[in-house]
Amino acid sequence: MFFTLLHLFLTETMEKGEEKQGGMNGEEGATPGGGGRGGRELGLKSGMKRRHEEREDEEETSPTKKLVADHSKNVASHYNTLQEVGLAARSQSRIFYMRNFNNWLKSVLIGEILEQARGTGSRPVYVLDLGCGKGGDLLKWRRGGISHLVCADIAEVSVEQCQTRYEDMKRKSHAKEKIFSAQFITADCSKEVLSEKLDDPELMFDICSCQFVYHYSFESEQKADMMLRNACERLKPGGFFIGTTPDAYELVKRLEASDSLCFGNEVFKVSFQSKGSYPLFGCQYHFNLEGVVDVPEFLVYFPLFEHMAKRYNMRLVLKQRFSEFFEEKMKKEQHRSLMMKMMALEPFPCEDGGQLATDSTEEYSHAKERCGRPGVRPPVGTLSRSEWDATSIYLVFVFQKMS
Ligand SMILES: C[S@@+](CC[C@H](N)C(=O)[O-])C[C@H]1O[C@@H](n2cnc3c(N)ncnc32)[C@H](O)[C@@H]1O
Repeated sequence: MFFTLLHLFLTETMEKGEEKQGGMNGEEGATPGGGGRGGRELGLKSGMKRRHEEREDEEETSPTKKLVADHSKNVASHYNTLQEVGLAARSQSRIFYMRNFNNWLKSVLIGEILEQARGTGSRPVYVLDLGCGKGGDLLKWRRGGISHLVCADIAEVSVEQCQTRYEDMKRKSHAKEKIFSAQFITADCSKEVLSEKLDDPELMFDICSCQFVYHYSFESEQKADMMLRNACERLKPGGFFIGTTPDAYELVKRLEASDSLCFGNEVFKVSFQSKGSYPLFGCQYHFNLEGVVDVPEFLVYFPLFEHMAKRYNMRLVLKQRFSEFFEEKMKKEQHRSLMMKMMALEPFPCEDGGQLATDSTEEYSHAKERCGRPGVRPPVGTLSRSEWDATSIYLVFVFQKMS
């Protein structure tokens, strides 16, 4: 029934689709552009639309539906076994700058939403970090001066590490600084109702942040809906649901441009089981990112996500590719200086005695070209081509609860 109702909506949205392409050389950063992928846009969209129409019929009858495995356990055990490494080891990683770049992007997003949530006053802010991992965003919440944080994740070991990190942070903080209070929950947020696990059953949130997580729930409609319910049902009117997730259009476009069922480069690899047909839910691919991620993930068809969010009274405020977000935010001095502080771009050419993330000159041809432009004084900030290709599959979203 849901699919039938959805059909009209999807058809309209796909036809109106506004996916934007283009290079993304920001004022201060030299990053490789989109690589001439724009021309395939229309063909791809109509292909996806047709396949979604086919899927609609299949949903009612397909026997394969019953055979779909539950991947949550694999995801949890993958993240549970990931080792937490120190700064020294991290700085040796091939994707050191890309990880910093992603962190910068989350910092800017979180900072801006906190400002909006707080408004002009200094009222307390309550946050839910859905899929908190090992607590990579704790410092951002501390800097943002929030009052209370609920951290939830399916991976028990990650939640424990997140809690330890929080307690260390609290212990080491200055006596005058008031650190937010926190609750830590281990739960499969695509299956369990989080509100039943809250210490304060009346708690309402100003923000739910879901960073690099929501795509795991698109394994089935039930899971995607439960994750959405957990993100939105306890938001105050005017509250925000923010996040980052791979852009399904970008993934499918790259897949269709590939001669095989995979695409990627020396830092990441995406492998599908088939191409040409992309079900709305459970469209699985395997994602491998340089020693950090090696798990099954699922395409999030954004118009459907947006449609489902309406059930929870959520209105889409922003959807931007990482490239677009970066270009826009780099116009502001405060974001540029944060970028420097966080080492989110690699200096090119590298300083005396230093080494670039890779020896391959091809990986920096865009930066070299930029250095040669009139008025540009090297070094410029950049990401290697492979890192940019990996991070540019993602998008940022912001929903707001209507009152
Ligand atoms: C790429 S990590 C991101 C962690 C953190 N949000 C960050 O940005 O650093 C994805 C996280 O999603 C969590 N996750 C995946 N599926 C989940 C589910 N069903 N319920 C709760 N957490 C889940 C994983 O355990 C992992 O910690």
